[in-house]
Amino acid sequence: MQLPPHKRENVLPLPVVLISTISKSGIRNAAPWGNITPILRPLDEIVLASWLRRDTLDNIRETGEFVVNVPPATMIEEVMICARNYPPEIDEFVEANLTPRPSTVVAPPGIEGSVAWMECQLVEEILREKYALVIGKVVHLEVNDRYATGKGDIDIESARPLSMVCSNDGIRYTRPVDAGRFAPYAEMFIRKP
Ligand SMILES: Cc1cc2nc3c(=O)[nH]c(=O)nc-3n(C[C@H](O)[C@H](O)[C@H](O)COP(=O)(O)O)c2cc1C
Repeated sequence: MQLPPHKRENVLPLPVVLISTISKSGIRNAAPWGNITPILRPLDEIVLASWLRRDTLDNIRETGEFVVNVPPATMIEEVMICARNYPPEIDEFVEANLTPRPSTVVAPPGIEGSVAWMECQLVEEILREKYALVIGKVVHLEVNDRYATGKGDIDIESARPLSMVCSNDGIRYTRPVDAGRFAPYAEMFIRKP
């Protein structure tokens, strides 16, 4: 079945994160985000795409800081509350009953109960006609001890990090499961004789 080109997100599973920010007057904001990705392992930058009318984008522009919270699948209802279009003067931590978690390097708090927290500082904004690409540098990264293995990897079966697949009618919330094959990085760099 052929799909129109703008349906590309229907065929590409995306992560779901909650981005927490504060305005310059200190109002807390949290918003779900799917268009976000690390830029090339093992670098420390990430990029997110934002429509121009987003409090999140305004706050990042104003303060240069944000936290990428990785919610467990049990946080779907909070995610959906934060997806509502509240005016900028509304504290979305209060609306969604989120417990703030003090950050280590940046001013915006993280969200308690997340699987992991990436504290980020703005590196560059690439402004296009309808959207902006925000490049951030991860300046502090923590995984919740509850979901971390001894090596600091995420145990995805207990953490159940949230992800999504778009459809024509809405978002199907999903979560990654182990596909039964582990590939050490070294295996990928073996050169053919
Ligand atoms: C699962 C999910 C993923 C989303 N991903 C994005 C995204 O990648 N970029 C974007 O601009 N908006 C995205 N949105 C919409 C924003 O989260 C939503 O408009 C929110 O109200 C913005 O809040 P803010 O104005 O407080 O920043 C997404 C919404 C949901 C539910």
